[in-house]
Amino acid sequence: MSAQEIIYSEAKKIKDMGLKRELGLFQTVAYGVGIILGAGIYALIGQAAGLAGNAVWMSFVIAAFIASFTGLSYAELCSAFPKDAAEYLYVKKAFGNKMLSFLTGWSIVLTGIVGAAAVALGFGGYFSAMFGTPALYAALGILAVFSLLNFYDIKLSAGINIIFTLIEASGLLLIIALGVGHIGSVNYLESTGTAGIFSAAALIFFAYIGFESIVKMGEETKNPTKILPTALILSIIITTLLYIFMALSVVSIMPWQELAKSSAPVADVAARAMGGQAYLILSTIALFATGNTVLILIIATSRMIYGMAKEGVLPKYFAQVSRMGTPWVATLFVMFVSMLFTIVGNVGTVANITNLLVFLVFITVNASLIKLRYRRDFRPRFRAPVNIGRFPVLAALGILVSLLMLLQFSTIVVLYGLGILLAGAIIYKLID
Ligand code: ALA
Repeated sequence: MSAQEIIYSEAKKIKDMGLKRELGLFQTVAYGVGIILGAGIYALIGQAAGLAGNAVWMSFVIAAFIASFTGLSYAELCSAFPKDAAEYLYVKKAFGNKMLSFLTGWSIVLTGIVGAAAVALGFGGYFSAMFGTPALYAALGILAVFSLLNFYDIKLSAGINIIFTLIEASGLLLIIALGVGHIGSVNYLESTGTAGIFSAAALIFFAYIGFESIVKMGEETKNPTKILPTALILSIIITTLLYIFMALSVVSIMPWQELAKSSAPVADVAARAMGGQAYLILSTIALFATGNTVLILIIATSRMIYGMAKEGVLPKYFAQVSRMGTPWVATLFVMFVSMLFTIVGNVGTVANITNLLVFLVFITVNASLIKLRYRRDFRPRFRAPVNIGRFPVLAALGILVSLLMLLQFSTIVVLYGLGILLAGAIIYKLID
């Protein structure tokens, strides 16, 4: 279960308490935008601008296309299998290979853990810019505090998440508003070259993660075969527009070379446009955004590990619960491993390790769809558009662009990725 699905199941409980059961297009899109928007943009926009130059907005467009291709494959797979079926189940159904499906599940777990480290470093950057504490200490601190909090079975409230999403979105809108007066001050086609634009796309893909969860709400949506794919695409379009305006705004207010060096990019941009007060407001929002995401990732990932251990996919001791009823072994594991990844130090590198794992999962998910299309017993209620006979063209494109993204990562990121897969393979052999 991903962070978003956990929030969603909380939302469902609230709905079950008497609110409307059936989600229409508007609610589904609102939910989708809420899932996608998060800390990523606050943590990564500076480094992304440094990689691409003023043309960083193009990187968001590229990432949006990649998300759409794979999102439609998810939509079809979800319509064929029950909604709580996770990615590792699709892979198991398609390839019948236990190790491959284990490694898919493992990569998803590590996405949560490494993602928490990336966002914690983003938090550290803003915290250190505000209070002068070293960023690494602040990152380690937030991971420790929120992991300990997690022992007290805190319930994720969908209501709180909506408030946080609104705060995060208002921060972005504020930056966009500040940028309006500066629009046209630079050439938006000036870039560091195609390679830079693609590297930035691979990095800021992090800001889109979550879109794949939108389609997993099939049972609660009215007319899901129509609404879900439309909501998916609309959510991606809306966030992309926000991100594009944000990208245009930041490079108009602050030269991309300076953005690249900032550890608190959004706050620095606000300060440049409006002075100290705006700096304070945006830093506070960024601390909320990053802190909230760290908490959600710790909770969701520890629950996911607990769930996999209960099903026998991971060693049984991960399923141990404390007297409070919380999965304490899984929580400690998440805390320690994410702390290890914060020591890598650079938020961009850690976010890229997360993205690399996500692209690997996307490749297997798209490949699963292609394989399943040729099975007689595969009967999805929704079929992804653009097909040649049975062959799903967009799923193939999803694989191609994900492969292209994998080529953007530095050797160190690839080595970390291989190390994570190797660790997964060893654990698989040990428990097999
Ligand atoms: N898309 C989510 C974020 O940016 C992961 O925080």
